Amino acid sequence: MPPVKRILFVCLGNICRSPAAEGVLKARAAAREFPIFVDSAGVSAAHIGEPPDARMIAACARRGVDIARQRARRLDVDDYAAFDYALAMDFSVMADIMARAPAGRRAEIRLFLDFAQTAERETPDPYYGASADFERVLDLIETGVDAFLDHLERA
Ligand code: 4NP
Repeated sequence: MPPVKRILFVCLGNICRSPAAEGVLKARAAAREFPIFVDSAGVSAAHIGEPPDARMIAACARRGVDIARQRARRLDVDDYAAFDYALAMDFSVMADIMARAPAGRRAEIRLFLDFAQTAERETPDPYYGASADFERVLDLIETGVDAFLDHLERA
C-alpha cells in the first residue's frame, strides 16, 4: 500500500472556506473508502483557536458534514514538509503560500479549483456575504473536492 496522501487546505482566516473543504473532503473520501489525511490552515493569524464561522458550521451540517470541532490555526513552515498538497482557495492565498515556502518543500502548492472544470478559479470568501453565498461556496467546494479525489484516484 502506498502511503496515505496528506492534504492541507489553506484560506485566509481558516474559519470559513478551508474548514469546509477539510470537512467535505474527509466525508467524500470516506464515502469512496479512499484513505486520506486532511487538515486546514489560514495564512492570517486573526482567528487562531476559534471554531469555524457559525454560518459555515450550519451550512455544512445541512449537507451532513460536521466541522464544529475544528479550530483555526495558522499555516506553519513545517506544513510544507508535512503535506503532499497545499491547496489554496484563492489567488491571494496562493501567493502568500508561495511567498513563505522554504526551499526543498515536499508539498505541491496548487489552486484548489484548478482540479475542477468550474468557470471560477477562486473559491470566494463568504465572510461578508449572505446565506446564499455560503451555499454557493459549498457547491464549489463539493465540485472541487470530487474533482480532486478523481485526480488522486487516477494518480
Ligand atoms: P476564510 O474567510 O478565509 O474562508 O476563513 C475569512 C474569515 C475571516 C476573515 C477573512 C476571511 N477576516 O477578515 O476576519
